[in-house]
Amino acid sequence: MNSSVDKQSSADRDAFMRERVSMYSNNKLKLGLFGANCSSGRSVTTVPERWSGSWKDCLALAQTAEEAGIEFMLPIGRWKGYGGETDYQGTTLETVTWAAGLLAKTKKITVFGTVHAPMIHPVIAAKEFVTADHIGEGRFGLNIVVGWNEDEFDMFGLEQRDHERRYDYATEWLHAIKMMWSCEEQFDFPGEFLKLKDIRAKPKPYNGTRPFIMNAAVSDTGRAFAIANCDGLFCSATYGKFEVAAEQVRDVKAKARAAGRDIDLFTTGVITCRPTAKEAEEYHRHCIIDNADWGAVDHILSMRKITPETHPDYIALRKHAANGMGGLTLIGDPDKIANDLAMLSATGFAGVAISLMNYGTDFPYFRQEVLPRLAKMGLREEIKS
Ligand SMILES: Cc1cc2nc3c(=O)[nH]c(=O)nc-3n(C[C@H](O)[C@H](O)[C@H](O)COP(=O)(O)O)c2cc1C
Repeated sequence: MNSSVDKQSSADRDAFMRERVSMYSNNKLKLGLFGANCSSGRSVTTVPERWSGSWKDCLALAQTAEEAGIEFMLPIGRWKGYGGETDYQGTTLETVTWAAGLLAKTKKITVFGTVHAPMIHPVIAAKEFVTADHIGEGRFGLNIVVGWNEDEFDMFGLEQRDHERRYDYATEWLHAIKMMWSCEEQFDFPGEFLKLKDIRAKPKPYNGTRPFIMNAAVSDTGRAFAIANCDGLFCSATYGKFEVAAEQVRDVKAKARAAGRDIDLFTTGVITCRPTAKEAEEYHRHCIIDNADWGAVDHILSMRKITPETHPDYIALRKHAANGMGGLTLIGDPDKIANDLAMLSATGFAGVAISLMNYGTDFPYFRQEVLPRLAKMGLREEIKS
């Protein structure tokens, strides 16, 4: 049941790369902003200046990011907050409508929707994505997640499939969508999970291409799904262990090549950047340790079945979870942050989706101090403001 858009020859991919310009800028290291559609973003903190996640703030951020040459905005698909004093990520904007709104108000930047495959019917999903893609004239990106929070599934009255089956379903869901994006004729889709009849889907994605498809998975099964079906995959990197990440990148790329495909690897980082290392460390400590929303942190960890009883290193894990629930923690002055990002590029990552404590107030400093350093290192084009 493969659709023609699923078979990516390198010539197709080159054409696709030219079309989807912003995500495929010439920058060696691409940058995106991750998690801005959620209250508190990725910092589980009670500090009053934490991120609002409001539409007004998201719009201003996307427009400033675009001006600065940032390639993409990546939202988090979140239906239910994590409780605690702040109800961490309890106020969130739905990601495809958020993307459509941002695409209407920007010109270059790619905006992703992060979509839980099991929660949205593929006929509705395919049309929503195409609509956003037309609004953005080819700048919509799809980030597929299969879901991990049981209580969100309860809200939908759905039962989570076991882990392997989640990706079987996602494979079928995505094939159905790719067919809707490409088949000119009416067609049936007699899948194992989806039995769809007489499908007609018009228009197709913008300008005969299709959206960039990303996947955020960490398991072997999730990665195999990405290698077979997606253009990008998020991989984790641990500070001081970049060689392990480099090996993962090489492995995923080699497997994709063996399957006749090409895939770019991305990672995530939560950045605290201040004029001096001391100021950065102190501010990070203030937000993420002294004023963490520990009620929310403990809830997040208990949902992942991480408790002091099951994990002797619980205290360390707790600190890590307060800072973005995973992903790399980057703290330091502008030189250090630029060097860390350069290291991730050298590790083989095509891009990094970054989060900031308050994107609105922290991004201008990152733009002013870190982006020019990355340009000097040859990793990004210099943009004069
Ligand atoms: C960068 C990144 C972003 C993610 N974003 C979301 C999200 O927005 N919503 C969500 O429910 N899960 C999200 N996840 C969780 C993944 O979809 C996935 O369930 C989790 O990483 C476990 O991977 P696995 O399914 O391969 O075991 C994200 C994971 C990563 C690494």
